[in-house]
Amino acid sequence: MHTAHEVLPVDCRSDALRSYGADLLCAPIFEDDDNTDLQELDTAAAGAIGRARASGELSGKVHELYLTDVADAAWGTRRVLLVGAGPRGAYAADRARTVAGAAGMAARSRRARRLVFVCGGSGGTPSTVQAVAEGLVLGAFRDDRFKTDDPETLPLAGVDLALGREPDADVQAAARRGALLGSCSNLARELSNEPANLFTPRVFADRALDLASGPRTSVEVLTEEAIASHGMGLVEGVAQGSAEPPRVIVMRYEPEDAGDGTGPVLGLIGKGVTFDTGGISIKPSDGMDLMKRDMSGGAAVVCAMRAIGQLAPPVRVIGIVPAVENMPGGRAIRPGDVLTAADGKRVEVLNTDAEGRLILADALILAQELGATHLVDIATLTGACVVALGHHASGLVGTPAAWVESVRRTAAGAGERLWPLPAFDEYAEQLKSETADLANIGGRDGGAITAGMFLKAFSGGRPWAHLDIAGTAWHDENKPYCAKGATGVGVRALAALPFEASWGDGSSGT
Ligand code: BES
Ligand code: MN
Ligand code: ZN
Repeated sequence: MHTAHEVLPVDCRSDALRSYGADLLCAPIFEDDDNTDLQELDTAAAGAIGRARASGELSGKVHELYLTDVADAAWGTRRVLLVGAGPRGAYAADRARTVAGAAGMAARSRRARRLVFVCGGSGGTPSTVQAVAEGLVLGAFRDDRFKTDDPETLPLAGVDLALGREPDADVQAAARRGALLGSCSNLARELSNEPANLFTPRVFADRALDLASGPRTSVEVLTEEAIASHGMGLVEGVAQGSAEPPRVIVMRYEPEDAGDGTGPVLGLIGKGVTFDTGGISIKPSDGMDLMKRDMSGGAAVVCAMRAIGQLAPPVRVIGIVPAVENMPGGRAIRPGDVLTAADGKRVEVLNTDAEGRLILADALILAQELGATHLVDIATLTGACVVALGHHASGLVGTPAAWVESVRRTAAGAGERLWPLPAFDEYAEQLKSETADLANIGGRDGGAITAGMFLKAFSGGRPWAHLDIAGTAWHDENKPYCAKGATGVGVRALAALPFEASWGDGSSGT
């Protein structure tokens, strides 16, 4: 059922291409280049590749696919897939990831289970090899768990990366890291894609226990009583319209050598709304089904914690996912209701559809109580962010600038685009409430930013960054390198943070 649980075995090897025994041999082919490294393969394919180049059938444009037979019966693999990779000079991690993604997708639909992917020359650096492993695993993902009439296609069983030279320990580790991050991203995609009737806050908590418990990680689930005793009135308020009780998932990672315990602690907080109807401020019915994915930020945190436990970074990490269902009904909160946050602040709920920021606020407070010194939250938070940035970058709001930039740079290194939005104090004025300390909405203008400013009010002046993934958490259409549906956005970026972020720069407060 949960196909992404197992990490794909990916091995780096130096063997000659002819000696691999696989179902499909995949290689990038470049647009502006004579691809001399593919000559041996072309000879084995009886010149088919050269002819396709000459006729223009195979130009090397990005994600173009060309499939042919290996005529030479002495070769261990008898099918070849060339994937257009664009200009050779632009072939680095980000390009390699989508090229490998296209190969993984094509392999899956052609029922190939053992692959060889050519990582020759500059394609054999650790960062490119990691990206290729990620891309293959992400591209081969197919979510057909709820199709009973589909012919079953089996997942990839193994991949060899053909380096053309002796692999060192760095490059082998990079391949394993890529396969792990790919599989953890796919697990997040499975969680996000799950329908809300089968994936309630209680189920989410059970799945987190399963996914994020390990030798260096632990998972604790706060039930209604614990949520009440922590004073999490915003979580309770959002949850009260639903027959499903809320859960707050608390995950902890401890490095082997935690030092004297005074070091930085990264707090990762993910929105876990298992379904967002909007509540009494109900959403229109068109497209409301997609709100089953309103827990994608929470899924990213759970699956990043799983990856972190296995990658063993040197700093402590706390992951928190407030999980609720936002429903209308006789017990639901109303516009105008006042709720009390875990730190005692009073919030006037002017729109029950701005529920994500409410539950995240309580979770940010809890993260600080548990010792988080640096905060990163991730959420499908606002339609306004989709209007601002579309689907090709997640929104980024935070403070101080050095911490925000460190998070942005780390995410970019992991292949995830975050784009900064300003967090000037004036924006917070839009959240003034007649009645309470602050309101949960700030009007239409700058909606992605005012949502961020609401969260900032609960960040305790600590370095904090907010990732709005409303536009990036799923694709409406297939891409050449990625199936439509949930993307698993955030897993790779969050898992990279405890290794890469410059803790010093951002730790001096606002
Ligand atoms: N979950 C939605 C945001 C969303 C919209 C995510 C589209 C993905 C795609 C969030 O809870 C929400 O409803 N936000 C409101 C806020 C508004 C009431 C201030 C929105 O964006 O309309
Ligand atoms: Mn909402
Ligand atoms: Zn929502």
